[in-house]
Amino acid sequence: MAGQGEIRFKSIDQLDVAGRRIAVRVDLNSSIDPQTGKVQLNERFRAHSVTVKELIERGGKVVVLAHQGRRGDPDFTDLSQHAEILSSLVGERVRFVPDVVGAEAVNAIKNLPKGEAILLDNVRKLEDEDVDKSPDEHAKSTLPRTLAPLLDAFVLDAFSVAHRGHSSIVGLAALLPTYAGRVMERELSAINKMIAMTDKIVFALGGNKPKECVNVLERFIKERPKSVHSVLTGGVLGQLFIKSRGYSLGAPSEDFLTKKKHVDFLGKVSEIDKRIGDRVIVPLDFAYAGKDGSRMEVTVEGLPSPGEIQDIGSRTIQRYREVIEGLERDTSVIVKGPMGVYEKPEFRKGTQSVYMALAKTRAATLIGGGDSVTAIEILGLRPSDFTYVSLGGGALISFLSGEPMPGLQVLAKQ
Ligand code: 3PG
Repeated sequence: MAGQGEIRFKSIDQLDVAGRRIAVRVDLNSSIDPQTGKVQLNERFRAHSVTVKELIERGGKVVVLAHQGRRGDPDFTDLSQHAEILSSLVGERVRFVPDVVGAEAVNAIKNLPKGEAILLDNVRKLEDEDVDKSPDEHAKSTLPRTLAPLLDAFVLDAFSVAHRGHSSIVGLAALLPTYAGRVMERELSAINKMIAMTDKIVFALGGNKPKECVNVLERFIKERPKSVHSVLTGGVLGQLFIKSRGYSLGAPSEDFLTKKKHVDFLGKVSEIDKRIGDRVIVPLDFAYAGKDGSRMEVTVEGLPSPGEIQDIGSRTIQRYREVIEGLERDTSVIVKGPMGVYEKPEFRKGTQSVYMALAKTRAATLIGGGDSVTAIEILGLRPSDFTYVSLGGGALISFLSGEPMPGLQVLAKQ
């Protein structure tokens, strides 16, 4: 097993671009400042601008497709700002067309000159876009049905949406010759390489999505149990391991875990503990908010905690740093989620110390997901401090968990 195995796909090296109308699905889904409504520049724009630029330079008539947010959410917006940001990075104007499948979009595609690009509006404005369906079913959805007859080829550039079976991802692929773009190529090769090159994988798992952590661990235990060198646990996962070992975390944390349904994963956590418990490194202490909100710490033996647990404690930090500092070059570390509530300065110490140690380790480090990437920025670290930062959040987890990914399946079929 190497990630999802070697996926054979056609790359844009095999695509005759000049003078042809080419749709490219990118992922520009970004944070939007709630105060100003401004779309925040991020790595996704930088990465996809490379593919768009190449298609323009090779004389394509380039139709860029992307989404922003989900219908009904505050960050569900049009893509006018995205077009401006993309233009500035491509170095050529990528004209925003405020339409997806209507007459304005159709005319813009028909009249698109060679070597130019347009960005159509948020594909999720179409109600049949973000529904998971098979490629053949989606071939009948509005976007593929309307746009495919105007296009010569489809480039799927966004690994970060490849876990979705949406119409702009699988529907166009059912109707057009489909190629992987530069970002897709790079993500697949980097992630596969990092997992395949080693028999020693360390996991540093935290955050508030224990389901994802559990899925990844279960898959590695099933398929490559010997490769799991150790698992450093923080965030909700760390608390679940401690709870499953018989400790009471205290009412505030227990209530939180119950309210968020995190307790549903206790059975799986305990199963993992049975299988590889000797390699799971659990917190020795935790930090919680005292009455005045300041950071207080409690050892695992001193539990239950009077306040809600919000970070790993100092002894745990010390232990995790020692483990990371001792890692060799032949090891890969998969990092998912922060160790605590890093957004609050008093509970940042766990994530900060562990990420700083990861930034310095000799081992290869793979990190992805919105929260981890935001944490890197807030902590003043740079993406280059890690061996590879994936643009995918949910997609990276699906990939590592071995779940079928519709976007990769359509590429493999070509
Ligand atoms: C992401 O931001 O991870 C991708 O754009 C996928 O977004 P989604 O979870 O709304 O499908």
